[in-house]
Amino acid sequence: MTDTLSIRDNRTGKEYKLPITDGTIRAADLQQIAVDGEPGLATYDPGFVNTASCRSSITFIDGDAGILEYRGYPIEQLAEHSSFLEVSYLLLYGELPTQEQLDNWVHEITYHTFLHENLKQFIQGFRYDAHPMGMLMASVSALSTFYPDAREVKDPENRTMQITRLIAKMPTLGAFAFRHVQGRPYVYPDNRLSYTANFLAMLFKMSEPTYEADERLVQALEILFILHADHEQNCSTNAVRSVGSAEADPYSAVAAGIGALFGPLHGGANEAVLRMLKRIGRTDHVADFIEGVKDGQERLMGFGHRVYKNYDPRAKIIKKACDDVFEVTGVNPLLKVAQELEKIALQDEYFVKRKLYPNVDFYSGLIYEALQFPPEMFTVLFAIGRTPGWLAQWSELVEDKEQKIARPKQIYTGIRTREFVPIDQR
Ligand code: ACO
Repeated sequence: MTDTLSIRDNRTGKEYKLPITDGTIRAADLQQIAVDGEPGLATYDPGFVNTASCRSSITFIDGDAGILEYRGYPIEQLAEHSSFLEVSYLLLYGELPTQEQLDNWVHEITYHTFLHENLKQFIQGFRYDAHPMGMLMASVSALSTFYPDAREVKDPENRTMQITRLIAKMPTLGAFAFRHVQGRPYVYPDNRLSYTANFLAMLFKMSEPTYEADERLVQALEILFILHADHEQNCSTNAVRSVGSAEADPYSAVAAGIGALFGPLHGGANEAVLRMLKRIGRTDHVADFIEGVKDGQERLMGFGHRVYKNYDPRAKIIKKACDDVFEVTGVNPLLKVAQELEKIALQDEYFVKRKLYPNVDFYSGLIYEALQFPPEMFTVLFAIGRTPGWLAQWSELVEDKEQKIARPKQIYTGIRTREFVPIDQR
């Protein structure tokens, strides 16, 4: 027997029974609830706070319990035992790879890391002070012009090709954007290195024949990439799916996701956290800052989450990774400010009542800074980590027979049908 929801429309006295599946009703089922001559009932949900846009088998989150799983595997286990490319494979194909599958996957990614030289010139065209996220967004979008076949989104083999290319080229694009701002020559990929070690080499190599990053730092960045790899229907993934629903190519869809991620309420928060910590500067300024937040003058960046009403499980893992990184680089003095902020906020009625806890961005900026990244690069790192998630969600969308072009309704609040007034009479 299917569960149902009974609705009585008090305007007409009519009763309706709607099926409940997976804890949801279909919004389209509400359309039958109508008063003569008027459009059927719809839902109004700005910010999609209570609307499911798809069925997905990629990422599970229980925000109240602080649980995050990719394809059923807890994030804590993946962060401890897996590599970023292995997790990418898992997100994209649903299962952990065998050794042979992993070797092939790593090989494929490694051999697609180079960019067309024209793309390098394209990046060189940006101003010296261009934000690397703007450069990344534009250059990912430009990739669609280099691979016009990417528009054949219905062809699974073609999709695999574009997915491989994009995951492979993201670190190269991110590193070139970084070197551009620094005014340093771009460093080409080194196929002998792992995904993350190669990224660090493209960022920091100068005249040495091979750049060898400290293995502990490589590992910390791998963990950060894993933690950011997917997060179900967040703002940027929704942007990717929305653009993808028009059957646009994946480069255009991911460029839209990068645009959304750039926003300070989303991926841009890690940059905002570090600026906030620098502004606070010292632990004895924390209490005043918290008062400012409670008065509505400030926002405690890196705190709060639409889904997590408990400690973000990723923040816990990052806090531990901080220790490993600081062992190599020395402790970031802003760590003390962050810890004091967390301590005070977690005891304060304002934050407790609203269930505001540290999110993934609260501590990640401290690690990034210790790794010598300027704040403008933080969101680029997030974007590189999130790319396999965006692409897994895009693939799922393309294969989902229930999906349609994303096209929400509106409640029109403007004036209706007016006579045009010539300019000399206004
Ligand atoms: N500092 C102070 N107050 C906050 C904060 C915060 N960081 N976050 C939420 N609140 C307050 C709101 O003012 C609101 O209070 P009210 O009920 O008195 O009006 C209440 O908590 C609920 O907040 P909403 O804004 O309604 O929550 P929403 O789910 O829409 O927003 C968001 C979530 C955008 C993440 C928000 O918590 C925020 O702005 N946080 C700071 C930015 C940040 O860290 N973003 C990163 C999120 S993680 C990610 O994208 C990777």
